[in-house]
Amino acid sequence: MQTPEEFLEANGLETRSLDRTGLIAAFQKEMEAGLAGEPSSLKMIPTFTSPYGEVEKDTAVTVLDAGGTNFRAGTVTIPSDGSEIKIEHVEKGEMPGAKSYVSQEDFYAVLTGHVKRCTPFAKDSSVGFCFSYPAEASADGDAKLLMWTKQIQAPEIVGQWVGAEMKKRLDPKPSKITVVNDTVATLLAGKAVEKDVHYSAYLGFILGTGTNVAYIEKNENIGKLKDAPAGFMAINTESGGFSKIAQSKFDEAMDRKTSDCGCQRFEKMISGAYLGRIGLEVFKAAAREGFFTEDAKLAVLQLGSLESYDLDNFCAMHDNGKPNPLLKVFVDEKDRAMARRLATPVFERAAVLTAIHLAAFIIKTGGGTDPYAPVNVCIDGSTYYKTRVVSFPEIVKRELDAMLASRNISYALTVCPDCAPMVGAAVAALLK
Ligand code: BGC
Repeated sequence: MQTPEEFLEANGLETRSLDRTGLIAAFQKEMEAGLAGEPSSLKMIPTFTSPYGEVEKDTAVTVLDAGGTNFRAGTVTIPSDGSEIKIEHVEKGEMPGAKSYVSQEDFYAVLTGHVKRCTPFAKDSSVGFCFSYPAEASADGDAKLLMWTKQIQAPEIVGQWVGAEMKKRLDPKPSKITVVNDTVATLLAGKAVEKDVHYSAYLGFILGTGTNVAYIEKNENIGKLKDAPAGFMAINTESGGFSKIAQSKFDEAMDRKTSDCGCQRFEKMISGAYLGRIGLEVFKAAAREGFFTEDAKLAVLQLGSLESYDLDNFCAMHDNGKPNPLLKVFVDEKDRAMARRLATPVFERAAVLTAIHLAAFIIKTGGGTDPYAPVNVCIDGSTYYKTRVVSFPEIVKRELDAMLASRNISYALTVCPDCAPMVGAAVAALLK
C-alpha cells in the first residue's frame, strides 16, 4: 500500500517538487498578456489609483468594506500630525449574499443604510468603498462587478457600476463614491503609514477567504490603456484567477462542487474559502483507498462540508473551545494521525504557492535592486496570519529568500495597519 505522501503525489498534490521557476515564468507571461489586453487568466485591471498623490488630512470620511465573509462600515480620519489613524462608528455584519441569495434591493439597502448612518459623523461627503471582488475600474472611481468570487449569491449585481447604483438610492447624494479593491486598499494603507523607510515598489496582498495581489505599474506599460497619461497606477491583477497550473485530483473534485466551477483556479488552491473543502476531498479519496478504519471511512464519506478553520485546528491539535466535526469523524487515534498526515500538505502547498506568486509579482515591479530600497509587500488576511498548522509568514519568507536572492532582489513583508481595507478606502476617497 502507498504511504499517504505517495498517495497525495500520485493524485497530483505536490509541494516539494513544484516547479517554482516555471510557475514564475507562467505568471509573468499571463501578466504581460493581461496588460496588453490579450487573452489571459490574469485580468490585470487598471485602477486609475496611484499611491503617490496627496491625501486630505483631518477629515472624517465614510468608508464601507465588503469582504468575503464580513461587511464593515464606519468613518476614518487620517491625522496631519502623523498620530494614529482614527477608525470610528464601526459596525460589523455579514457580507450580504455570503450565506444565501440576496436581491439587488436588499444588497444595496445594506450599503446605503451604512452610508446614511455614518454621514452625520463625516466631514467630507465622499465615500470610500473597499469592494473585494473582480471589478472593472473607471477613471472617476466607480467599479463594475465583472463576476462574483467567494461563492457570493447576488447575481443581479454582476455587470453593475456599484457606486452609481448606490448613488441612485441615496438622498442627499455623496459628492463621490470611490470604489477600490481590497488589495489596492491594502497597498494604499501600507503607504499611508510608512515612516522613515524608502521602498522602491509596492504590492498589496490579501490571503483570507479569497486571494489577490495589486502592484504599481508605469502607465506606459499598460498596453490596453489607450492614451493613458504618463505616471503610475495600481493594477488589480486578480491573481486568484491564474489558471496555468496543474490541479490535483482533489482540487478538481472540489471545484466541481463550486458554483463557479472552472474559475479562480489559483485562488481555490490557496485561500481560506477552499482549503477545508480540498481537505475533505483528500479524506474521501483516502477513505476509499483504505487509509482509515471502517468507522472513520463511513463517517468521512457522509461529511457534507468542512471549514478551513476546522481542518486547520484539527491538524494543529488546537482546541478553540468549539466542537470540531473532525474529532467525531476520526475517533481512533491512528485515524487522527493519518488524517493529519494527509491534510497538512494542503496547507503547506498553499504557503509555497503563495510565495511563488508573490515572487512573480515582486519581480514584475522591477524594484528591489537596491537593498536599501526593497519592494514593500503589505499583507492582510486571516489565512495568511492565522493558519496554525503551518506558518505562512515563515514559509513564504523562506521560499522568497530562496527564489529572489539569486536575482538580487530585496523585499520586505510588512504587516498592514489595523483595518487596512477601511484605511485604504479612506485614502482612496481622500486622494487629491
Ligand atoms: C477577489 C479579489 C479580492 C480577493 C481577496 C478574490 O476572490 O476576486 O478581488 O481582492 O478575493 O479578497
